[in-house]
Amino acid sequence: MCEKGFFNLEIFKTDNNMDRLFIFDTTLRDGEQVPGCQLNTIEKIQVARALETLGVDVIEAGFPISSPGDFNSVVEISKAVTWPTICALTRGVQKDIDVAAEALKYAKNKRIHTGIGTSDFHIKHKFNSNQEDILERAIAAVKYAKKYVEDVEFYCEDAGRTDNVYLARVVEAVIKAGATVVNIPDTTGYCLPWEFGDKIRFLMENVKGVHNAIISTHCHNDLGMATANTISGVLNGARQVEVTMNGIGERAGNTALEEIAMILKCHKGLNIETQINTQKISSTSRLVSSLMNMPIQPNKAVVGRNAFAHSSGIHQDGVLKNRESYEIMDPKDVGIDENSIVLTARSGRAALKHRLHLLGMETEGDKLDAIYEEFLKLADRKKDINDDDILLIAGMERNEKQRIKLDYLQVTSGVGVKAVASIGLMIANEKFEAAASGNGPVDAAIKALKQIINREMNLQEFTIQAINKGSDDVGKVHMQVEHQGAIYYGFGANTDIVAASVEAYINAINKFVK
Ligand code: KIV
Ligand code: ZN
Repeated sequence: MCEKGFFNLEIFKTDNNMDRLFIFDTTLRDGEQVPGCQLNTIEKIQVARALETLGVDVIEAGFPISSPGDFNSVVEISKAVTWPTICALTRGVQKDIDVAAEALKYAKNKRIHTGIGTSDFHIKHKFNSNQEDILERAIAAVKYAKKYVEDVEFYCEDAGRTDNVYLARVVEAVIKAGATVVNIPDTTGYCLPWEFGDKIRFLMENVKGVHNAIISTHCHNDLGMATANTISGVLNGARQVEVTMNGIGERAGNTALEEIAMILKCHKGLNIETQINTQKISSTSRLVSSLMNMPIQPNKAVVGRNAFAHSSGIHQDGVLKNRESYEIMDPKDVGIDENSIVLTARSGRAALKHRLHLLGMETEGDKLDAIYEEFLKLADRKKDINDDDILLIAGMERNEKQRIKLDYLQVTSGVGVKAVASIGLMIANEKFEAAASGNGPVDAAIKALKQIINREMNLQEFTIQAINKGSDDVGKVHMQVEHQGAIYYGFGANTDIVAASVEAYINAINKFVK
């Protein structure tokens, strides 16, 4: 069995004599940068523990100098997990590195991830500098980080658009300065797969000492090529991939962890293996989606609701005769058990606690009681309670501290009649009421809400999603509300989608009304 925490660069082969690919998860750093996806420290610890169980090698826990919250999260995650290396991001400047080293104090295996932009765009426009100066800064950053930790990763930001000859000079210099991993990010998601693969091969063939470090990929998905580029990088010599759960991340996101893990599982002929326990993919994916309020597109590869659903008659017939006619993966391999027991109003606390445990949430005492109470309320309205519902209920208590709360909502609507809504809000324990009409129930309810909260605010994005099948399903609403030039994210979930919409709007307002 290969040891975890991998400063030992000899560890490149698995027990099966396959090449070992290290999984560097940046859900809690690049993924968490997405507006609306911010987690508090407790939630980050939950995700970090789930990632540890999933089997990732490295957890990028945050960018400590960016905020006290990020600093604290790196400290607490370092204490909470054992096996994965905990990594902290910095810019290539001493102050950042000092703060990262301090945040990593409690990590059993620690890494500082420092770097600088290497493309002409970054050198000229971001740093108003030149290639020689950037090279010197890169070397200095690595040497400075080495004073604190053995394991130093260097990123060449915008490597995707960096000239290969200059990139090779930087990579060679930082390895000589002591970098144990060199990250080649396609920061803008620009490269074509063959181009990115050629870049990695160029480095493997032209950098003196390249085998003293691990070359890593970090691909963004702006043109939908992140996974293809990552695989191309791996086929050309990269042995670490930087990924996020569900592919979340800046703009169009990062390479999805689950896609890389399953590609390598399905294509054994590539002779490359990760230590991911793929049966934990589904629960980890749901946990991240639920805590981050980030819905998974239904047709998302590997973890989407429809990823294993066969709807056409021809496909259904084929699958019934032989599953492999249309399925290249067994749903069980990603942890989807079609026979898993659904919870109902008759299920007890112990069953709920066990299900939460399977979903990566440890709960007991008052917290379990509160979740159980919500569970029973939902079970009264909905026959079968599934995993998404449970994750939703477990996340609800986060909204309890909101200043503005929905007290009641009554809506009349239908065909040929005007929609009318009356609403009651509790604001700092005082009740406010209003009524309004609109072109539909949501419009009427939001107009009534706006009569009470009289601020300049505009609804920018509004998504309603039902999780499963059935007219009794819980509807999830995601909203973006603009207020004084800033965008605030709101989330609501209810079996009544008008109520879910109002809850989402109130959730957003609570972020700017103090
Ligand atoms: O996309 C990128 O270049 C990054 C670096 C900071 C590693 O996220
Ligand atoms: Zn990135």
